[in-house]
This record gives sequence, C-alpha cells and structure tokens, in this order.
Amino acid sequence: MHGFSYKNGSLFCEDVDLQTLADEHGTPLYVYSAGTILDHYTRLDAALNGVEHEVAYAVKANSTLSVLRLLATHGAGFDIVSGGELFRVIKAGGDPAHCTFAGVGKTRDEIVYALEMGIYSFNVESEEELRYLNKVAGDLGVIAPAAVRVNPNVDAKTHKYISTGKSENKFGVDFGAISDLYQRAADELPNIKLRGLQMHIGSQLTSIAPFIEAVEKVIPLVTELKQEHDIEFWSIGGGIGIIYQQSLESGNAEWWDNQPENERPLTVERYGKELVPRLKDLGLKILLEPGRYIVGNAGVLLTKCLYEKKGSAKTFKIVDAGMNDLIRPALYEGHHQIVPLKEPASAELIKVDVVGPICESGDFFCQDRPLPDFQPGDHIALMSAGAYGFAMASNYNSRPFPAEILVEGGTATVIRKRQTLDDLIEGEL
Ligand code: LLP
Repeated sequence: MHGFSYKNGSLFCEDVDLQTLADEHGTPLYVYSAGTILDHYTRLDAALNGVEHEVAYAVKANSTLSVLRLLATHGAGFDIVSGGELFRVIKAGGDPAHCTFAGVGKTRDEIVYALEMGIYSFNVESEEELRYLNKVAGDLGVIAPAAVRVNPNVDAKTHKYISTGKSENKFGVDFGAISDLYQRAADELPNIKLRGLQMHIGSQLTSIAPFIEAVEKVIPLVTELKQEHDIEFWSIGGGIGIIYQQSLESGNAEWWDNQPENERPLTVERYGKELVPRLKDLGLKILLEPGRYIVGNAGVLLTKCLYEKKGSAKTFKIVDAGMNDLIRPALYEGHHQIVPLKEPASAELIKVDVVGPICESGDFFCQDRPLPDFQPGDHIALMSAGAYGFAMASNYNSRPFPAEILVEGGTATVIRKRQTLDDLIEGEL
C-alpha cells in the first residue's frame, strides 16, 4: 500500500499535490510519503507478532537523515554496511546498541568506530574477518559482539546482481563450515562474543518459497549454535520484494482484493504467517533487515519532459532526470511505473522510450513502453523510487543531486536541498 493517488485529475502524495511541489522546488525531485514508510514498518512489525523480534531497517536502501529519524523515533533498529551509515544513524538519533554491521570488507577504522559506539553485533562474512575483529577488539581492550553470516546456498530467484545466498556469491560462510568456525572462535578468539547467526539470501524476492527453504535449512544449525554457544539472536535478513509493475493501482486495497490469490504479490502478512510458526519456539530473538519493503513504494522521482524527439525507429521523451539520479533501470533492468502528474484526458497510449540527458545509451527509464502522450513541459513521476534511488545517485556528468521532500499529511518538508554548482566542486583543490 502507498500514499500516491490521483485526486481531481492530479497526482497526490498523501494530501499534497505533486505538481505544486514540482513547480515550487524544480525537478528532478524525490518525494517520500512518511505515512507509507510508517505503515510498512508497523505492518511488518505486527506480522512478526508471536515471536520476539526487532526490525533493523537496512540503511543502504535510503539513508537520508529524516527518513532514518522517522524510523528511529518509531523504535526501529538499523542494519548498516559502513562507518558512514553508522554516522548517519547516530546523527539521526538512532541507537548504536540497536545496530548490526554487515558487509564483506569492513576496514579497521570502521571496526574501531563501531566498537567505540557500542553496536549490537558485527555480522561477519569470513573467518579472516572474525580473526581481524578479534585482534582489533583486543587492541582496544574490548569484547566484540559478532554473528557470522551463513550462506545457505538457496536460490532466491531474483536478478543475479542482487542474489546473495548461493555458494558462488561472495557473501557469508558456507553452511557446512559454520559449526566448526563457531567452535574455533570459542576456543581461540577471546575478544569475540558470539551473539547470533545471520543470513540474507537476496533482494526483491517476490515469492515466499526461498524464505521458507532457507529458514528450514538453517533451523537445525541455529538450534545447535544456541545449545553450544548460547547465541541469542538469528537475523533472517531482508529481501521482501515490492510491486513495481502496477504500483499506482496497488496503492488501493480494492486492487489487492481483485488479484487472484495465487498471483497476489508477497505480503508481509503472508511472510509472518509462514515464518512465525517456524521461528517462535527457537528461543531466539529474530532480527529482520528490510530495506526496499519499508521505503520502496514510499517514494517517487518527479521529472520534467524537456523534448520529444521522433527518430525513424522510435519516439524518445527526453526528461530532466537521468541514470545518475535513478540507476535501477540501467543497472538491473529495473521497472518503474511512469505516470503523468496530470491525469491524461485521453486513454490513448503511444510507445516511447523515456530517456535522460546522460551521454550513455543505458540512460533510459523505459523502452518501447506504451504511455500517455505527455509533452515537453509536462511532469511525470517515476514510481517506487524510494529504495535504492537517491541512495545510489551520483554526480556523473557533473549533475547536482536532486532535492528531497518528505510529505506528512498535508505538510511537505524539504529534507535535502538541491545541490548547487558550488556544492559540486566543494572539497576539490
Ligand atoms: N541485509 C543485507 C545483508 C543486504 O545485503 C541487503 C541488501 C538487505 C539486508 C536489504 O535488502 P532489501 O530488504 O532492501 O531487499 N540496489 C539493489 C538492491 C541491492 C540490495 C543489497 N543488499 C536494487 O536497487 O535492486
């Protein structure tokens, strides 16, 4: 569900007209619905009722301070992957004691910073890293809380760039090697406290089956680790997929009700219903690391059509946002629904490529897609851009970062100013 819908012919975010925001603040412009973010967070939290759990929002999906602050004030923990993300969480009022630190390549500086801040757990991805963590903790005279990431060798059936739970991926430690590793750590690494086990099989999973397969496969292992090493938590990772195809319609409950049961996308209610019974008697705190599910459908990227170019083979609508602002179509063939801010008068669709101004052929938001015939000067929204949108933006082609706005009911707040040309060269000598 999300907070975007047409009212009297104009696309609104909650109670704010997006056209007004585009006119006032210019484009490209990211706009987020606070109500949607909180709705998703609360629904996921509720879906896990029945088992002790904590939602640790995956900061990488959207690390803008006001988004983090919104979640922190509602009790979320955070899953971070860098010292920079930890810094942001702390600046936003998040509690390091509710942070887990993932990633295959943590540096000494990052480890020291996280130890000093007192994070909940380092989610370690190799024996080498665990030994290094033990050494750094020893140098500082502290004990490092840690969980190892198990690679359960389960196929997440998602895009290959965001599939992480197979043996050929760089992530985690082989399932069969975990027991011995925990034993060696207990015997040989005095500065490590084994606190839990972690896994994450991939992102944008749209079916429940791989989650069930991974959980069932790992239950015997986690049970053994609890007995042998008294671990207290099991993080089952993130990865809950969202709807990109029909994200506007999917905002209303009727749309959901009208989908055939077996074609309904994965919901968190289904996720909870399947997983809670399997997890509730383990005596472990279950951690979740959702990113996309919390913020994906809660954000849009607004952009203006600059030109229409009719080539011999195609019609191009050239817009003022580029792959530097939203890279998902170029990098993962990601689909983002495209809708005009003013509801089109005619139902007629024409096949177009919507492209940005960047000097690369990969700079497109859709190809050969039937869309309403919007014109230069008209604004459109790229839907479901709240996750891995701004967070993956760059200054490529020396394009300043867009501004970001957070909508709460009828109030729109600028939460990040548009970069200026001077900002672009700041720090250069
Ligand atoms: N936990 C770990 C260890 C992760 O690596 C990730 C995502 C998450 C949690 C959160 O996954 P989520 O709930 O958001 O699926 N840029 C790509 C997605 C990369 C995901 C990387 N890891 C995209 O735009 O599709």
